[in-house]
Amino acid sequence: MTLSNQVAIVTGAGRAGKGIGRAIALALAKAGASVVISDFVPENADRVANEVITAGGKAIAITSDVTLSSDCEELVARTVNEFGRLDILINNAGITRDNLLLRMSEDDWDSVVNTNLKGAFLCTKAAARIMVKQRRGKIVNIASVMGIVGNAGQANYAASKGGIIALTKSVAKELGSRNININAVAPGFIQTVMTDALPEELRDRMREQVPLKRLGEPEDVANIVVFLCTEAASYLTGQVITIDGGLFM
Ligand SMILES: NC(=O)c1ccc[n+]([C@@H]2O[C@H](COP(=O)([O-])OP(=O)(O)OC[C@H]3O[C@@H](n4cnc5c(N)ncnc54)[C@H](O)[C@@H]3O)[C@@H](O)[C@H]2O)c1
Repeated sequence: MTLSNQVAIVTGAGRAGKGIGRAIALALAKAGASVVISDFVPENADRVANEVITAGGKAIAITSDVTLSSDCEELVARTVNEFGRLDILINNAGITRDNLLLRMSEDDWDSVVNTNLKGAFLCTKAAARIMVKQRRGKIVNIASVMGIVGNAGQANYAASKGGIIALTKSVAKELGSRNININAVAPGFIQTVMTDALPEELRDRMREQVPLKRLGEPEDVANIVVFLCTEAASYLTGQVITIDGGLFM
């Protein structure tokens, strides 16, 4: 299950500490891939790229905002310029702007859908041009269980994540004949900066609901993403793998 000689882009990978994108980048590099750490916060992308290099991997940082088609195209072009190919795209960049429907502003809706859904579309389109020519590629979209079951206070986020699942299935049907696999993962409660900010009591209640009796770690998501990028998963496309300790089954 090696990824040596392969080149991967991870969007939104700049969150140091507990980011899911960072964990995915580190895990892809450990499996042998050269990794492009992309984020719209330049110093964060640099920091994670340095972490990968310190851990013995190959990485470069590229600043890009996934909501801008010019940035997504430049991200792919610079990657191919630097490494000569592009094998793997992980659409991880995502934000939340939670509010109840009647209080949700149009701006809250637009910014979440633009980042989480349009961003994945723009990066997938830019990467697919190269992958179609190569007749080979793996794309993994980071969705969420909320995109499957919905969540009060997250109409924008859940719609964007449900949308990314439909995007995954449609592109799988379009690009399967070009040897491009595209799948989604739907994480449940993962311990990140976001969940760390919640009160301990709420985290205890969340943990109690999970059959495996623990919250997920970013590495729990990263391990499945790496598997989806390997040849071991070559007959899998258009699927959504829920990584939630059994919470929603
Ligand atoms: N944390 C969870 O419990 C959880 C659960 C399910 C799904 N997810 C999904 O996993 C992904 C990563 O989540 P996380 O918790 O690590 O979040 P995070 O906020 O720690 O990381 C998201 C990263 O995306 C970057 N980003 C935001 N907007 C961007 C843009 N327009 N262009 C480029 N980069 C941008 C941020 O700078 C940040 O580094 C997201 O898609 C999120 O929706 C998280």
